[in-house]
Amino acid sequence: MTTRILGTGSAIPDRVVNNQELETFLDTSDTWIQERTGIQSRHTATTETTTSLAVKACMQALEDAGKTPEEVDLILAATVSPDYTFPCLACEIQSALGAKQAAAYDINAACAGFLFALDSAAAYIQCGLYKNALIVGAEVLTKLLNWEDRSTCILFGDGAGAAFVAEEKTGVLAMMQGANGQKGMALYRQETAPDTPFRKTGIRGGAAVNYLEMSGQDVFRFAISQVPESIQQILEKTGWDKKEVDYYILHQANARIIQSIAKRLDEPEDKFPMNLTQFGNMSSASIPVLLDEMNKSGRLKRGDKIVLSGFGAGMTYGATTLVW
Ligand code: UT7
Repeated sequence: MTTRILGTGSAIPDRVVNNQELETFLDTSDTWIQERTGIQSRHTATTETTTSLAVKACMQALEDAGKTPEEVDLILAATVSPDYTFPCLACEIQSALGAKQAAAYDINAACAGFLFALDSAAAYIQCGLYKNALIVGAEVLTKLLNWEDRSTCILFGDGAGAAFVAEEKTGVLAMMQGANGQKGMALYRQETAPDTPFRKTGIRGGAAVNYLEMSGQDVFRFAISQVPESIQQILEKTGWDKKEVDYYILHQANARIIQSIAKRLDEPEDKFPMNLTQFGNMSSASIPVLLDEMNKSGRLKRGDKIVLSGFGAGMTYGATTLVW
């Protein structure tokens, strides 16, 4: 027995910010953003929160799977932008849904977070501890961005994507995860450490905000070398030839990264669906939102052979093969 995705859901904030709107307050252009990233617009939270988006996506995933909250064994929430450091997002979801039986905790693996949540759920199910799990990637990254830094703020958007997974005869076939902590400072957000009576940091509690910082080229180089390698490894582990794969569903960071990976794998670009044009990089939400879109539009068919792969701050990376 293995673990299969039985239902999906997603939630995106209402407010759309297109590249032209960014031109009004940043030294940037629609042409630059589209040429370097493929992004045309992103959605940003105004009234929505990480929790409200996550809960909406989870409710849809349960509905799609025909399950009730009471039936959920485990909730795993992947996020780097929760509303609270604690309680964790997964516990907030558990409370909002009334999923009283479910164990719940968060995973911080940045943009690879949803993939790591899926792998963790699959491992729990495989070892017999749980029969099912509700997994979600949810982010309001726009609150962590420096809106005066054109090299980062143009890239990201907010959203949430969820999946209900359960024990089945087919589904997840192989998983691989990795991390390269030595490259961690390529993409980070430092926590604020205010003055205490015993340690002087020069920061007064309350007001200080630290933003996301990134060395874009380092992250780019990491992605285009590590992701193809991860995919080669997972294909070998699964025993699939790349020609058998129907879709490579990758973390949606940048169209140029995805195109470069397709080229390195010598696979046609139409096997690499993208939604970053519309939503930007939604970190842990990018893969599940794309899965939901493809599921609900009928593009994914039961039996399709899929490779999921992600990378993110950490630097974390991973790949999973599954039969839809
Ligand atoms: O989930 C993982 C999240 N992170 C990523 O995926 C990031 C991966 N990296 C990237 O996607 C790319 O490195 C970026 C899109 C961030 C940047 O593209 P690039 O081709 O690596 O550009 P660059 O950093 O080499 O900058 C080229 C020029 C610089 O100007 P000068 O020094 O050549 O005069 C930048 O200042 O482009 C300038 N620039 C911009 N110009 C207009 C940087 N951002 C902008 C901007 N608009 N938004």
